[in-house]
Amino acid sequence: MKFQLSATLMGIAATTVSAQENQSGPFTLHIKGTSYNSKIDGYGISCHAGAAISGLCYSEGALSNTSDISNSYKYNFNYTGFTQVGEDEVGSLVWNQPSVKAHSPVKITPGKFLAAKKCSHMIFKIVITDVECWQYTDQDGNPASVSQAMSLVYQGTSNVAAPLFSFDQSLFLVGFDSEGGLFGYNYVNDGRFVAGQPPTDYTPKAYYQWAVCWQYFTGYFYQSVAWVQLGVPHNPTCEAVEITKVDI
Ligand SMILES: *[C@@H]1O[C@H](CO)[C@@H](O)[C@H](O)[C@H]1NC(C)=O
Ligand SMILES: *[C@@H]1O[C@H](CO)[C@@H](O)[C@H](O)[C@H]1NC(C)=O
Ligand SMILES: *[C@@H]1O[C@H](CO)[C@@H](O)[C@H](O)[C@H]1NC(C)=O
Repeated sequence: MKFQLSATLMGIAATTVSAQENQSGPFTLHIKGTSYNSKIDGYGISCHAGAAISGLCYSEGALSNTSDISNSYKYNFNYTGFTQVGEDEVGSLVWNQPSVKAHSPVKITPGKFLAAKKCSHMIFKIVITDVECWQYTDQDGNPASVSQAMSLVYQGTSNVAAPLFSFDQSLFLVGFDSEGGLFGYNYVNDGRFVAGQPPTDYTPKAYYQWAVCWQYFTGYFYQSVAWVQLGVPHNPTCEAVEITKVDI
C-alpha cells in the first residue's frame, strides 16, 4: 500500500491555517468530588492510552507550588471567539502531546499496520481508510510536542464517556465559567423537542456532568475523568466532580 503523503499533508496544512484560534493557559485542572463525603480531591493528568493518544486521568493529592509542574498536568484552552455561553468563551481543552517515537512496524489501531520508514519523524493518524502522517519534529529536527484537542470516546452500552487527547476531530466543546469551572457546551436541548417541530431555542448553555470513574478505553483501565451523558452513571465506580482551572 502506498501513501500520497504530500497531497494529504497540504490538505492538513490548509485546514490548520484557516482555523484562527487564540489560546489561554497554561493551567492545571483541579478535580474535586461534589458529594459531602467524597474523598476525590486532586488534579487532571494526561495518561498514556495508545500511540499519540492520552486519557485525562485523575491524580490524587496536591501539586507542588512551583514552576516545575510536569507537562502531564498542564492544559490550555483554544477558542475562536465565535461562540460564547453568556460572556464565557467556548472552545477546546488542549494538551501538548510530547513527541512519539515510531518503530517499524507500528501498530496503530487493531488490524492496521504501517511501515514506519514511510513517515519517519511523523505521528500517525488513521482517517477511516487512510493513514496520514503528522510532523512531530520542529524545523531544526528537534523533538516537539503536538497540540491535541479533547474529544470524548463513547460506549454505546453506557452513558459514561471518556475524554481523550488524540487526533480525533470530533471535539468536545467546553468552556470555563467566571469561577474557572469547566463546562460542556451545547445549544440545543433534545429534552425539549416536540414531534415534527424543529427546535426554536438555540441558546448556548453550559452543562456540568463531570465525574471521576474507573474506565476502560483504548485497552487501558484507568481512574479518569468522565462525562456522564445524562442521569445516573451506568458505571458504579463514578463519583460526580467539579473541575476548576488553576492558572500557573
Ligand atoms: C506559592 O508559594 C508562595 C510563597 O510561599 C505563595 O506566596 C503563593 O501564594 C503560593 N501559591 C499557591 C498557588 O499556593
Ligand atoms: C485573539 O488574539 C488577538 C491578539 O492578541 C486579539 O486581538 C483578539 O481579540 C483575540 N480574539 C479573541 C476572540 O479573544
Ligand atoms: C491551539 O491553538 C494554538 C495557538 O493558536 C495552536 O498552535 C494549536 O495548534 C491549537 N491546537 C489545536 C488542537 O487546534
